[in-house]
Amino acid sequence: MWNLPVLPRVHQPRRLVIVTSGGDSPGMNSAIRAIVRSAIHQGIGVLGSDRGYTGLVDDELRPMNTASVGNILHRGGTVLKSDRCDAFRQPDIRARVARQLRERQVDGLIVIGGDGSLTGAHLLATETGLPVVGLPGTIDNDISGTEDTIGFDTAVNTALEAIDRIRDTAHSHERVFLVEVMGRSSGFIALAVGLAGGAEAILLPDCRVDLPGLVRRLNLSKRRGKNSSLLVVAEGHDPRLTSRLAEQLSENGHQARACILGHIQRGGSPTGHDRLLASALGASAVDHLCAGHSDIMLGIQRGVITAVPLDEVAGRSKPLPTGILELAHILAN
Ligand code: F6P
Repeated sequence: MWNLPVLPRVHQPRRLVIVTSGGDSPGMNSAIRAIVRSAIHQGIGVLGSDRGYTGLVDDELRPMNTASVGNILHRGGTVLKSDRCDAFRQPDIRARVARQLRERQVDGLIVIGGDGSLTGAHLLATETGLPVVGLPGTIDNDISGTEDTIGFDTAVNTALEAIDRIRDTAHSHERVFLVEVMGRSSGFIALAVGLAGGAEAILLPDCRVDLPGLVRRLNLSKRRGKNSSLLVVAEGHDPRLTSRLAEQLSENGHQARACILGHIQRGGSPTGHDRLLASALGASAVDHLCAGHSDIMLGIQRGVITAVPLDEVAGRSKPLPTGILELAHILAN
């Protein structure tokens, strides 16, 4: 749990708009609920943008009230729907969006999404002066300036549940399973799932795949009495890598199968952790708008809810935690 920062109230927004953008992530609905109910509690009207930035571009905004966010806290996905909106990349479109929002008496925007969505939020805030607060919402946990993102914990747990099931089959058939997890070009999910799932090897996106080394490792495992193994592969390699590696390991004396977990990692009911994170960040985003803050993202740093300038978030890469890969290898021996 996190302390909610107490901020001076210097501004009373009339209406704010919520945008969920990019890949949906479990906990987005919990954040929407927290924003709507906190805002209404403070006398602020709320609109929801339909399908991410597309709703802003097409001026498709729907009024939200306490009832419209009833029964969504525990649901995956986003009731506002999401989109990756190409039109919003154009400065003239962003200028038109800001005009449309001002005509509707909107003086605050909360954007929940990943790096691309937060980049759009930053550009809108700096180019048009519209107050904007971003929240990190992505299963990938690849957002700079925060240790955690809404949806990461759920995705890791979903992948772990799948891995635990796959282990049963791997054990029964004395097989090697290569399980590919999501994460775009980052390896946060792979690292977390690999360590918590006891993977014999984790292949991160930027690593060179050493087939002979992998075969030696599996041979050694076999000699030590392990009759099955599980390897976690981060997506972000060549898309055919996981299946190709399974074939190559089979040719080298290890009966191997590939399993690509895919979008099941994006859906499902958010974990308690993600609901708490989303609720705290959502409520805090409203407080930051009332404190007159803009062009920031709220994240977690050293366990504290922290406002980070969007300039230090957008387009920046976040390093993987050190030592985890080595630890996973030691513990899997
Ligand atoms: O960013 C979330 C994510 O699920 C990534 O892990 C994945 O690479 C990507 O989105 C998939 O995008 P799409 O659903 O558009 O295929």
